[in-house]
Amino acid sequence: MSLLRTKPINADMYCDTGLRRCLTAFDLTLLGIGAIIGAGIFVLTGIAAATKAGPAIVLSFVVSGFACAFSALAYAELASSIGGCGSAYGYAYAGLGELVAWIIGWDLILEYGVAVAVVAIGWSGYFNNALTAVGLHMPAVLLTAPADGGIINLPAALIVLVLSALLAVGVRQSARFNAVMVLVKVVAIATFVAVAVFNVQPANWHPFMPFGWKGVMGGAALIFFAYIGFDAVSTAAEEAVNPPRDLPIGILVSLAVCTVIYMAVAGLLTGIVPYGTLNVPSPVAESMLRLGYRWASAVVAAGAIAGLTTVMLVLYYGLTRIFLSMSRDGLLPPVFSAINARTRTPLRVIVVSGLLIASIAGFTPIGDVAELVNIGTLSAFVLVCCGVIVLRRTKPDLKRPFRTPWSPVIPLLGIAFCLYLMASLPLITWLRFVIWLAIGMIIYFGYSRSHSVLNG
Ligand code: ALA
Repeated sequence: MSLLRTKPINADMYCDTGLRRCLTAFDLTLLGIGAIIGAGIFVLTGIAAATKAGPAIVLSFVVSGFACAFSALAYAELASSIGGCGSAYGYAYAGLGELVAWIIGWDLILEYGVAVAVVAIGWSGYFNNALTAVGLHMPAVLLTAPADGGIINLPAALIVLVLSALLAVGVRQSARFNAVMVLVKVVAIATFVAVAVFNVQPANWHPFMPFGWKGVMGGAALIFFAYIGFDAVSTAAEEAVNPPRDLPIGILVSLAVCTVIYMAVAGLLTGIVPYGTLNVPSPVAESMLRLGYRWASAVVAAGAIAGLTTVMLVLYYGLTRIFLSMSRDGLLPPVFSAINARTRTPLRVIVVSGLLIASIAGFTPIGDVAELVNIGTLSAFVLVCCGVIVLRRTKPDLKRPFRTPWSPVIPLLGIAFCLYLMASLPLITWLRFVIWLAIGMIIYFGYSRSHSVLNG
C-alpha cells in the first residue's frame, strides 16, 4: 500500500547532493549546544519554577532529561545507520512508511518553524532591555504585534532576516558564527554559576516541592523546551564530514553537556532567590541584579542574547534542510529543492521560510506557544524511538555503527517518558496540535501523495 512505501536505506547517505561536507564532530557538537541553550534556560526556567514546580524544577529537568536521553540514543542509532538528509523524517521514510514520514516531517516543520518565531520574540525582549540599558528607547508599537495593540515586533522580524542572510552565505560561515556565540553563552553561564555558588541560601529550597508531583511534571513538560535542539544536529547529515561517526557524537555530547549545565543553573537559581520571584522575562539576569551583581547581570544578559541567537540560527538551519529533503522526495513542491551553485545552500528555501517566520515573529502574538513546539517535538521523538524498534526487526542486518544499548528497553522508555510529558501538556496545546496535524493530512492527501517521487 502506498502509505507504507519506504525509501531504500543508504540511498542518499553519501551521494553528492550539492551541499558542502564541511562539519566535523566538534562543529556538530557546537551546533547542538547552539540549538539547545536558549530561551528554555534563560526564560522558561524562571516561569516553570515560579508557577509550576518550585525548587523541584531540578527534578523537572531530570524527568525531561531522561525523555531526551532515551530519544537521543534512538536518534544516534538511526543517524548512524540511515543518515541521509531530513533527520527523523528521513529515518521514518526508510523504516516506517511515507505517511508516518510525512507526519514527522510536518511535526518538525512545526517544531523548528514555530520555535524560531517564539525565540525571536524572546530575543526582541532581551534586545530591547539592552537598548534601554544604554539609553535608547524604541517606541512600544514597534515592539508589539498588532493583536496586542502595536504595529510590528520589529526586532523579532529583523533578527530572523539577518539570520536568513547568514544562512544564505554558507554553512561554514554560519557554523563559525555559531561557535563564537556558543562561547559567549557558555561564559555567561559559567559567570552565573561562579557567582551563584557563593550566594546560596538553603532556606530558599524549602518547601522543595510546593506544587507536588503534578507540578514537577507540568514543569517538566514546559521546560522540555530547553532541551530541544540536539535533534537538529541530525539535519546536518549531508554536510557532516563523516555522518555515521560524527552525528552520534554531536547528538549525545551536546545533550550531555547541556543537561549538566541545566541541573547546575536550575539548582542554583532556586537556591539564591525565592522561587516565587522568578516569574519574570529574564530570571537568570535578574537574580544576579537582586544579589547586587550588576556586572554579572550584564554578562548573563549578553549570554542570553547570544544564546537565543544561536538557537534561532540552528533551528532555522534545520528547518531549511527538512524542507529541502521533503521537497526532493516530492512531498513538497520542487521549487524548494534548488541548491544555489555559488553558495551551495538551498537559497530559495532559506528566503521563503525566512520571510514566513519573520512575518509570524513580527505580526503574531505567538510568543506564548512554546508548549506547541514541545508537543510537536515529543511526538517526533516517540516515532523515532518506534523507528529503532521496528527497524531492528524489519532490517536486522543493517549496518549500525552506533547501537542504542538495551534495545528495545531504552526506546520503549523513551516512548513512555515522551508520552507522559505529552499527557502533562494543557488541553489547548493538544487542540492546536490536532489542528496542525489535520492541516498536514489535507496537504498530504491533496498534494504530496500523488506527487511523491516514489509514485513514479
Ligand atoms: N532549546 C531551545 C531553547 O531553549 C529551543 O531556546
